[in-house]
Amino acid sequence: MAWTVPPAREGPVRLVVLVSGTGSNLQELLDASRDPGYGARVAAAGSDRDAIPGLDRARHAGVATFVVRATDFADRAAWDRALTEAVAAHQPDLVILAGFMKIVGSVFLERFEHRVINTHPALLPSFPGTHGVRDALAYGAKITGCTIHLVAAEVDSGPPIAQAPVPVLAGDDEQSLHERIKSVERALLVETVGRLAREGYRVEGRRVQIGI
Ligand code: GRF
Repeated sequence: MAWTVPPAREGPVRLVVLVSGTGSNLQELLDASRDPGYGARVAAAGSDRDAIPGLDRARHAGVATFVVRATDFADRAAWDRALTEAVAAHQPDLVILAGFMKIVGSVFLERFEHRVINTHPALLPSFPGTHGVRDALAYGAKITGCTIHLVAAEVDSGPPIAQAPVPVLAGDDEQSLHERIKSVERALLVETVGRLAREGYRVEGRRVQIGI
């Protein structure tokens, strides 16, 4: 069945961005949001851990932050419910997982169905999981890249929205390759989220079509 998200009609689309580390993707979204024509703005940034640069970037931009630590809850399901409520409190139109290193659960995915977007540093379905860059390098891939996709229950398995290639160069190590991917990934994330917000999108099976 087709599912559509209408484009912003009154004011910018509200983004809640979840991060676990550096937050350079979040920074690009914060910077893009300054332009009213972008069509989306970061309403809040959240994390599963405190004292990370990503949250500092949000605070510096005057954006609300929150932390929901898994270790503060009896089990994963309780953490998932708490995270869901913390995100929902900021009334997101879209939830962006930008280097969020925890797997969100079923309560979260049901609450924000078709509205959770992840960025992954490889060309899915190749090299899913936490070590997408390392695995591409170990495989000897000549081309890798990044994928912006809708989030589904199985890790890195949701329908792709946008992908971009990045060459693997002789002499690359994990860090140099990841940095090259991230510079492409940040631009692709900002472009894709802006288009989703301004043009709306339609989900039909595994096909995501921007513009409705
Ligand atoms: C990105 O490459 C993302 O795809 C991966 O972790 C990186 C996060 O970078 N999961 P940053 O925290 O946005 O700088």
